[in-house]
Amino acid sequence: MRSNIILAAALARIAAAAPAPAPQQFDFDAILNAPSPTATVPPVIAVASSSTTFSIDTASLAASIAAEITTAATASITGASASAASTEEPTTTVLDKRGNTQKTTSSSIWSTSTSTKSSSKSSSTLSSSTSSAKSSSVPVTSSTSTSTLQQSSSTTSSSSTACPTTPEAGTYCGFINPEDACAPQPAGSGPQVQPDTVAAFYAYPAFMQDALNAKTPSGYVETFKNLNASTSANSYLTYETLTSYNVSGCASFCDNTDLCTAFNIYIERDPSVNPTTNGTDIGWGSDCPNPSSITNYKCSLWGSNIDASSATNFGDYRDEFQVVIAGSNGYDKTNNTTPATQPGWSAPSGCSGGAISSGGSYWMGSNFYPGPFDPSVCAIYAQAQTSTNKQVAQQKGAKSYTPCNMFNAYMVQKNGIAQGTYCQLYDTVLSDSWASFSGAWSGATFFGVTSSWTYSLSELLDGKL
Ligand SMILES: *[C@@H]1O[C@H](CO)[C@@H](O)[C@H](O)[C@H]1NC(C)=O
Ligand SMILES: *[C@@H]1O[C@H](CO)[C@@H](O)[C@H](O)[C@H]1NC(C)=O
Ligand SMILES: *[C@@H]1O[C@H](CO)[C@@H](O)[C@H](O)[C@H]1NC(C)=O
Ligand SMILES: *[C@@H]1O[C@H](CO)[C@@H](O)[C@H](O)[C@H]1NC(C)=O
Repeated sequence: MRSNIILAAALARIAAAAPAPAPQQFDFDAILNAPSPTATVPPVIAVASSSTTFSIDTASLAASIAAEITTAATASITGASASAASTEEPTTTVLDKRGNTQKTTSSSIWSTSTSTKSSSKSSSTLSSSTSSAKSSSVPVTSSTSTSTLQQSSSTTSSSSTACPTTPEAGTYCGFINPEDACAPQPAGSGPQVQPDTVAAFYAYPAFMQDALNAKTPSGYVETFKNLNASTSANSYLTYETLTSYNVSGCASFCDNTDLCTAFNIYIERDPSVNPTTNGTDIGWGSDCPNPSSITNYKCSLWGSNIDASSATNFGDYRDEFQVVIAGSNGYDKTNNTTPATQPGWSAPSGCSGGAISSGGSYWMGSNFYPGPFDPSVCAIYAQAQTSTNKQVAQQKGAKSYTPCNMFNAYMVQKNGIAQGTYCQLYDTVLSDSWASFSGAWSGATFFGVTSSWTYSLSELLDGKL
C-alpha cells in the first residue's frame, strides 16, 4: 500500500516534470462568443429611490448549469496519482511556458484553447471519461447565469385587478406607469438646470463640486472621478436613485447587496415626462418628444472591480430628449473583499499571482459565465461535473470516476471591462504557485484576470465507486 502511494507520487512527479507542451486552458472564444447579460447598465426609465431589490435565483441557476453538464470530463492524471500529487508544485518548465504565453499574441493560444472544447454530446465523449486524453470533454460555454439574475423594481405597471376606487386619468389605481406616453417620470431630486440645455447641464458647477468633493467611503478605493459617462459592463447588479449625491448611502447599498464590490455614483439629465411622438393618450397627452429635464442622482452596483475604462455610457436619446451624465465617480472594494464560502467547499483562498491557466494533467475542463464575479456558478458547475462523471462511471460499471476536488474562479476583463466568471476544474488540490496567469493578448485586446480564488472540497473525494 505504502509503496503504491510512493510509486504513484513518483509517477505524478515524472508527469509534472516533463509535460507535453502545456495547453493554454483559457478559451478566448468562450468569452468572445458568450452572450451579454440582458442588462449591462441601469434601465433608462428610472424607478423611485431605494425600491430596487436584487436577488439571484440559486435554484434555477443550479438547474440550468447542471442541465448543461451532460458529458463526463477527466484529467490525464487521476485517482491515487492525482491525490498523491496534491502538494505538487508546478515545475519550472510549466511556469516558464505559462510565463511565455502571457506575452504571446499569436494564434497558438487560440488554437490550443479551442481544442479543449467539445460541442458534441455524443457517446464518444462519454466514453472518454476514463481515458487519459489531454483535453477534456466539457460542453461549450453558454450563458446560463444571466437569465436567472433577477431584478424587481417598484415600477408600476398595469394590473388586471379592479381598482377599489375610480382611478385618476392616466393612472392604474392611482399609480403612474412611467412607460405611458408623456407620463411623469419618478424621482428627480436634483436641481432643475436652467437654461434647460445639455451644455448647461454639463457646465453646472454644483455637479462638479459634488463629484470632486466626495469623500471615499472606508474600505473603498476611488477609481475614477467627475467623468461624463457611467459604468457599463456585464457585471451590472442593480441600481437606485438617491435624493442627493450621497456617496456613503450608495456605499451602504453596495455593502448590503450580494456580490457587490464596486459602485458608480453619478448625476443624470433625465426627461420630466416620458418623451413620446404621437403616442397613445392615456391622460398625459400624446406628443412630447423633448420635454423639460429633471436631475437624478443615480447609484449603480457592480459585481467586479470597475475603473475609468468601464465608464462608457455617455447617455442616449429618448425620442428627441438627450440623456447625459455628469459627476460620475467610481468606488471599488474588490481587493478588500473575500467572496462567499460555498456550501460543501472550504473557505476560498486568494491567488496572488492570477489564475491557474495551465493546471497540467489535473485539469478537467472550464466554463465561462458572463455576469458578475460569482464563484457559486463554479461550485455548481464543479458539483454537476462530478455527479455526471460518477453517473457515467456507474453506468459503465467502472470502479472509479474523476471527481472535481478544486476549482479556480476568476473574473475576466476585456480591455479593463468586466466580462464574467471563468471556472477551471481540477481533480486534485493545487497550490497557489500554479496561479500565475494574469492575462493574455489577442491582437489589440487584452484579456485580464482579476479576483482569482480557489475553492477545495471540504471533504476531498477519492473517486472510488
Ligand atoms: C466628456 O469627457 C471627455 C473626457 O474627459 C472629454 O473629452 C469630453 O469633452 C467630455 N464631453 C463633454 C460633452 O463634456
Ligand atoms: C445618505 O444615505 C444614508 C443611507 O441610506 C442615509 O442614512 C443618509 O441620511 C443619507 N444622507 C443624505 C445627506 O441624504
Ligand atoms: C399618429 O398616429 C396615428 C395612429 O397611429 C396615425 O394615423 C397618424 O398618421 C400619426 N400622425 C403622425 C403625424 O405621425
Ligand atoms: C487591486 O489589486 C490589483 C493587484 O494588486 C491592483 O493592480 C489594482 O490596482 C488594485 N485595485 C485597486 C482599486 O486598488
